[in-house]
Amino acid sequence: MSKRVIVVGGGVGGYVAAIRAAQLGAQVALVEKDTLGGTCLNRGCIPTKTLLQSANTLSLLKKAQTFGISAKEVSLDFGAVLRRKEAVVNRLVSGVTFLMRKNKVRVIKGVGTIIDSKTVMVLDSKEEIKGDSIIIATGSQPLMVPIKGLDEPGVMTSDEALSLEELPHSLFIIGAGAIGLEFAQIFHKMGGKVIIGEILPHILPAEDVEIAQMLEKILTKNGVEIFTDAKVISIETTVSNEKRVRFATKYGEEERIVAKVLVAAGRQPYTEELGVAKLGIKLDKGKIAVDERMETNVAGVYAVGDVVGRMMLAHVAMSEGICAAENAMGLDSKIDYGAVARCIYTSPEVASVGLTEEEARRQYPDTKVAKFPFAANGRALTLDEAEGMVKIITSSYGEILGAIIIGPEATELIAEVTLAMHLEATVEDIATCIHAHPTLSEAIRETAMGIEGKAIHI
Ligand code: NAI
Repeated sequence: MSKRVIVVGGGVGGYVAAIRAAQLGAQVALVEKDTLGGTCLNRGCIPTKTLLQSANTLSLLKKAQTFGISAKEVSLDFGAVLRRKEAVVNRLVSGVTFLMRKNKVRVIKGVGTIIDSKTVMVLDSKEEIKGDSIIIATGSQPLMVPIKGLDEPGVMTSDEALSLEELPHSLFIIGAGAIGLEFAQIFHKMGGKVIIGEILPHILPAEDVEIAQMLEKILTKNGVEIFTDAKVISIETTVSNEKRVRFATKYGEEERIVAKVLVAAGRQPYTEELGVAKLGIKLDKGKIAVDERMETNVAGVYAVGDVVGRMMLAHVAMSEGICAAENAMGLDSKIDYGAVARCIYTSPEVASVGLTEEEARRQYPDTKVAKFPFAANGRALTLDEAEGMVKIITSSYGEILGAIIIGPEATELIAEVTLAMHLEATVEDIATCIHAHPTLSEAIRETAMGIEGKAIHI
């Protein structure tokens, strides 16, 4: 008889685990309380990038004159923008539904709770599903920070911000991580006034300081108001039904009156009703603890994705799903977290892999760093997107420790360095590889050449 695998949660971690287990011959049941595709497809990566595409198209049309084109009376139809977002999301969700059928995965709608290491009960129907292994992929939910007035109407998480029916004329965003900045970009480009309050000294606190500061300058120059070292004190509703946000900065207290407030202060693992405590599954600061094979302390029970929270990224969840499914099916699979790209879809985009310059310098005193500006890259100039640079960080003998790109198509370009790191290529390998001209990727080669002082165009 084939092995039976139960997956709880049908987001990108869960549905990918289900497909991989089915490919390896398992009989798979997947329990999902909501819509297949989870946060990424329904409330995260995909809808935000679809909205960004509309926002970026509007920006491009507004600067059509730069390209010698006259585009008068350009305007935004927010309703049509939302309909396009829904259409893209629905298409992808249907795609996942099709993949479930194709792989003969039984999808059960309802809340799954783990009764024992071989049984999941669907709370809604009380059906008990038996399996040889369980893969938990229940994801995460927005983290609500303790701020007075957070429960006022008009204070939203990214979930509600994606289903707004009207474009708010002004928005205060709490937190300048990936979510905060991507929403800032969407609403600002669509014509809203955006103010960001970040509690730490610079935006994108986990990223390379120089690049984060560069992005901060560009966003500020473009009209986004950013306060760092800013602690939000309270949110109140005014008599005209707007939100008064009071916050403390290094220079004293400030307040802004806005239409809406978005809380983007991080996400936390979602384990409600899962029964992890009863089963004795170990948690680490609310995250499910797993070993390098994605197995929890309870044999045969695996966990993947945001609920594990090693790196809350969709692509990490997918790889962890594959890893868990393979191990559940008797293979021996592990994850390489050293070469994982981190992508932020701002304008310009920011993408990084491996260590930041600060992390590298702390660990390796002989770290080498080279940079190359897009202003010296022909393709970037043709695109009128010459802001930004590539930075590569290596050890003294050319091992690539990390890279960060701020500039056009950074989220696509980072794949080259990610693959190089995954293959343990040296910076010399990138420097000697002939890159096509004129392309943005030449900036990566020039940066690699710069490690030994051999860059040509700078
Ligand atoms: P985050 O942890 O990346 O950023 C949260 C930000 O809020 C931090 O800068 C933090 O210092 C700040 N903050 C926390 N408390 C605050 C307070 N009281 N006042 C002001 N600022 C405060 O979390 P984020 O942006 O919510 O994203 C959640 C997860 O989703 C992250 O792991 C992120 O990487 C992932 N994600 C990835 C995306 C991508 O890959 N493009 C897009 C969106 C999210």
